[in-house]
Amino acid sequence: TKMNKNFPENFLWGGAVAANQIEGAYTEGGKGLSTADVSPNGIMSPFDESMKNLNLYHDGIDFYHRYKEDIALFAEMGFKCFRTSIAWTRIFPNGDELTPNEEGLAFYDKFFDELLSHNIEPVVTISHYEMPLGLVKNYGGWKNRKVIEFYERYARVVLERYKGKVKYWMTFNEINVVLHAPFTGGGLVFEEGENKQNTMYQAAHHLFIASALAVKASHEINPDAQIGCMIASMTTYPVTPNPEDAFAALQQDRKTLLFSDIQSRGYYPSYLKRYFIENDITIEMAEGDEEILKQGTVDYIGFSYYMSFVATADPAELEKASGNLLAGVKNPYLKSSEWGWQIDPKGLRITLNQLYDRYQKPLFVVENGLGAVDVVEEDGTINDDYRIDYLSEHIAEMKEAIADGVDLMGYTAWGPIDLVSASTAEMKKRYGFIYVDRDNEGNGTLNRFKKKSFNWYKQVIKTNGEEL
Ligand code: BG6
Repeated sequence: TKMNKNFPENFLWGGAVAANQIEGAYTEGGKGLSTADVSPNGIMSPFDESMKNLNLYHDGIDFYHRYKEDIALFAEMGFKCFRTSIAWTRIFPNGDELTPNEEGLAFYDKFFDELLSHNIEPVVTISHYEMPLGLVKNYGGWKNRKVIEFYERYARVVLERYKGKVKYWMTFNEINVVLHAPFTGGGLVFEEGENKQNTMYQAAHHLFIASALAVKASHEINPDAQIGCMIASMTTYPVTPNPEDAFAALQQDRKTLLFSDIQSRGYYPSYLKRYFIENDITIEMAEGDEEILKQGTVDYIGFSYYMSFVATADPAELEKASGNLLAGVKNPYLKSSEWGWQIDPKGLRITLNQLYDRYQKPLFVVENGLGAVDVVEEDGTINDDYRIDYLSEHIAEMKEAIADGVDLMGYTAWGPIDLVSASTAEMKKRYGFIYVDRDNEGNGTLNRFKKKSFNWYKQVIKTNGEEL
């Protein structure tokens, strides 16, 4: 028998963005302020409410006003799906209102209708890096159990409203980010002397319950829809074959996988209990929480993949490499992006196999891409061969993973149109097939241009991944 290296017929090719990184119009349509609106330096920096510094998220790429033009370009590339998030603050501006903001809901109606009119399936993240600032200021973010109620209300409103339009959902973007960028991931601001780990894991517990409640709600509201988790994958290799390093790598992997373990299996893994004891962490759980987790397991595993990581048992050995959430050890076998992210296509095959071995649930690569500086040539062309190389090598490894037996639903390249980056809040770091004329100082016409990768990706989709 012949080995099957083909992408399934209904494979969901597309692109992925987040509301706060593209929409702009940050005070229009009744929208409230979000954590992104006070993070002018990106997700890893302390927040800044002064509003004195230029914050590129405020205008994004003005997608709020230009979505029709942009969606037409996605359709021209043949997108089967488009992943975006709903800005929580467009629906509940402060987070704790009892009734939603109709103007915000109406915007996403128009936006999703536009996608559907081009036969593009919306894939929607309910919360991507931008909780309402009101919930941070008045409730302390996810450290407060009450926030679960606000999220559940919000999730139910959007699940209900768009049930006829959206079949694919995710509860939280990169849920494990709460341990790495606690303000962005959890709206957490620490007090002096606070046991930060305790607060982060308590917030994570609330996120798990909220996610499980959203899954339950989705199953009730539309049994045909699929709702997944979304983790930032951080597949880790040991720096040497020393068993000490192998164990360090295992432990580092668990810091990510504990999230998908809980969301996919519906209970806390045993290894986490030991970690809590050793780190003096006590999580308050309410009666019924275990039941909620059990009932709210996800339908698929969504994840982002940009790079792999290396762990060592000897911290003195750490030669730091950079990454979106985590700095690690440098891998001498890999090249790095201009931002120091270690490029590892084979690591995607490894990640796909590990996740499938662990969960046996469909997987969805909902982010992958190369952040790079693009040069507009004198004739106006943008020859981003480096991006084509990065993407084609990763897609080739997905094919291998499919031949390995992995059930893969789709692939959404990160930032099909240039957008404001998350970790450093800049325009200079570009991911798109479509160039947006705007720079780090906020100058530019915001006009859109096709890069070389535009036609390349169009051909990938047209041939269902045959031609890379
Ligand atoms: C992921 C996020 O971590 O990586 C995205 O979900 C983000 O929001 C993407 O944009 C790429 O990171 P960056 O920092 O290059 O924008």
